[in-house]
Amino acid sequence: MTSDNMEGGFSPDSTGFDNRITRLFGIRIPLVQAGMIWASGWRLASAVSNAGGLGLIGAGSMYPDVLREHIRKCKQATDKPFGVNLPLLYPDIDKHAAIILEEKVPVVFTSAGNPKTWTGVFKEQGMTVVHVVSSARFAVKSQEAGVDAVVAEGFEAGGHNGREETTTLCLIPAVRRAVTIPLIAAGGIATGRAMYAMMALGAEGVQMGSRFVCTHEASSHQAFKDAVVAAGEGDTILTMKQLTPVRLIRNQFYRQVRAAEDACVPIPGLQQLLGRGRAKRGMFEGDLEEGELEIGQVSALIGDIKPAAAIVNEVWAEFRQAAAQPFHF
Ligand SMILES: Cc1cc2nc3c(=O)[nH]c(=O)nc-3n(C[C@H](O)[C@H](O)[C@H](O)COP(=O)(O)O)c2cc1C
Repeated sequence: MTSDNMEGGFSPDSTGFDNRITRLFGIRIPLVQAGMIWASGWRLASAVSNAGGLGLIGAGSMYPDVLREHIRKCKQATDKPFGVNLPLLYPDIDKHAAIILEEKVPVVFTSAGNPKTWTGVFKEQGMTVVHVVSSARFAVKSQEAGVDAVVAEGFEAGGHNGREETTTLCLIPAVRRAVTIPLIAAGGIATGRAMYAMMALGAEGVQMGSRFVCTHEASSHQAFKDAVVAAGEGDTILTMKQLTPVRLIRNQFYRQVRAAEDACVPIPGLQQLLGRGRAKRGMFEGDLEEGELEIGQVSALIGDIKPAAAIVNEVWAEFRQAAAQPFHF
């Protein structure tokens, strides 16, 4: 692999970018909308794909038949490529995988599990497979498992997170050094300037989650979207490190978890406290105190709720401006 393979450039009319990520997915802009439980259904995914990025349906909060319905509606809403995010540790994984294959979804982003288990199965059917990692070590394992690209997600990110607590700024150069496959940066990115910074560090595309929660198309509860807009510096924290680290907004639920951890409640007790319903209660039903509110540090920079296409267009315009004048503030 030479550095030439990693090079990219604007299309002649500057409306798109040509690099390994845009070619891999067949998209115009190297911007991925993250798969997110209780947020990214067909409406959000198709809106982002129609705007030139890659939209992902988040399978993690969907029963298998619901996932099938979202895939079918997404196909009707866009003729552009889209994908499904599939957390590998979830109970319905076999059924989800079967549906993704039956429905011939072109792209799958796997996360939270071992990429060896499923990559071969999806690749055999001609799918593009991307795995999400939080360390250079797991990026190497993913490359060995045969994935087409990795998402490297830093400690700032919303949702489930690595135990290593490596920030995006430190993670991207480390992963770039460790693997030769295409690299997508995630965690703390909400603007074109941040996208430009990630590309300067060696990423070939970016994945944004928190920013896309605050869109008209996200299926999250309005109260949760408003809470994200209201969140300021220090309002999110990485918690449940013993069980499965997750970044969320500090609220009553977080304080219950914290108290249980301080009291050294064993893992089954923490599992019981978490339950499966807390995330739904917070992010989908809008219970801002008793529910789990997953969001990234970048929420402190998010100040409005708007259509997903507006975000894609703004990020892309700012990226182009930064590329033209990197140090013009
Ligand atoms: C509300 C929410 C739900 C998420 N759910 C998932 C998920 O189901 N699967 C997954 O791989 N990542 C999930 N994530 C992480 C995102 O895919 C993404 O990598 C992350 O949001 C990027 O960081 P950012 O929030 O700073 O943009 C979630 C993030 C958020 C904010």
